[in-house]
Amino acid sequence: MAVTGPTGDLGRALVPALLRNRRVGRVIGMARRPFDARSAGWRRFEYLQGDITDRHAVRELVRGADVVVHLAFAVLGASDETWELNVGGSRIVFEEAIEAGVGRIVYASSVAAYGFRDDLPARIDERQPTLGSPEHPYSAQKAAVERALEALLETSGARTQAWVMRPCIVAGPRARTLIEELPYVRAARALPGPVRSIVRSAPLLRPVLPDPGVPFQLVHEDDLARAFVAAVLGRGEPGPYNLAGPGQLTISRLARELRWHALPVPRAAVVAGGEVLRRLPFAPAELTWIHALRRPVLMRCERARKLLGWQPRRTALATLRATIEAARRAGTPLL
Ligand SMILES: NC(=O)c1ccc[n+]([C@@H]2O[C@H](COP(=O)([O-])OP(=O)(O)OC[C@H]3O[C@@H](n4cnc5c(N)ncnc54)[C@H](OP(=O)(O)O)[C@@H]3O)[C@@H](O)[C@H]2O)c1
Repeated sequence: MAVTGPTGDLGRALVPALLRNRRVGRVIGMARRPFDARSAGWRRFEYLQGDITDRHAVRELVRGADVVVHLAFAVLGASDETWELNVGGSRIVFEEAIEAGVGRIVYASSVAAYGFRDDLPARIDERQPTLGSPEHPYSAQKAAVERALEALLETSGARTQAWVMRPCIVAGPRARTLIEELPYVRAARALPGPVRSIVRSAPLLRPVLPDPGVPFQLVHEDDLARAFVAAVLGRGEPGPYNLAGPGQLTISRLARELRWHALPVPRAAVVAGGEVLRRLPFAPAELTWIHALRRPVLMRCERARKLLGWQPRRTALATLRATIEAARRAGTPLL
């Protein structure tokens, strides 16, 4: 089987889970930067260095594969300039997978594909159309990729089927982007150690996160990997699957777990953007699912439970704690 983007937050949890599964044979993965699979301890794994916008590289990757997992995407840097990579590149992956006659495509879409829209119900199930939010490139591109995949499968008449996974924010000991990209954490990296110690020992100097009071979901990387493995093995049926751990969090809870402070702010302030939006966790602004904080976008996951037999083991809070703990162990300056 073949995986695009195996070296990112999801891939680093998913590939080991695939390699541990006896029903999964050889795995071949492709991303742009050099990667040493041996030192990662990934056996039965072959790494190809290549770009998904390069059709020849993708053809090489999917040749002979029975399943293609498509993870490669510009997430942090999504912008109008990433349309070619995210939408064009995904289309190439799907076209080449269909052309190669793979049985299954497992695509990592996102909760963001639904968009951050006022007309969404309080809890979203998979029947909700994925219209995206045109003003947010990541969301719009996720929605466009789902549309492209659906159209390609319809028109190709191929036997290829697609499992479209729609996770909420992913976190865990390896998937630490949520914590490591907090603006305060990024800023703290630039501070000399003694200054960080002063900030740490003075509660009043600790960061303050504005909290618009919008709940959000989190899924643990290992729980997510289990859902993807089930899809890779063809459990359930083709189609979309919402994926979120039990429970929900707020920015105030995040701040408390980091031993920081939170300041309630009206949602209108978030909508207005500007300073408040820049100071929210998950910024930089390129992390467009930040806009989920403009209004709750919460998913129901009954379909994954019923059809994939998926039972997430970690709550949102347990996942957050595991991520923070791992970040501390890794020496991330959390102030
Ligand atoms: N993380 C989350 O919270 C979350 C939530 C919902 C959905 N998702 C989706 O899950 C997928 C994986 O996300 P992630 O968090 O693992 O992302 P990530 O940590 O940014 O990793 C992205 C991976 O894709 C590779 N890649 C990027 N551009 C590429 C290109 N042009 N050609 C080949 N490889 C490329 C990267 O390696 P190189 O840079 O070396 O190429 C890396 O292996 C994405 O589709 C994302 O939208 C993520």
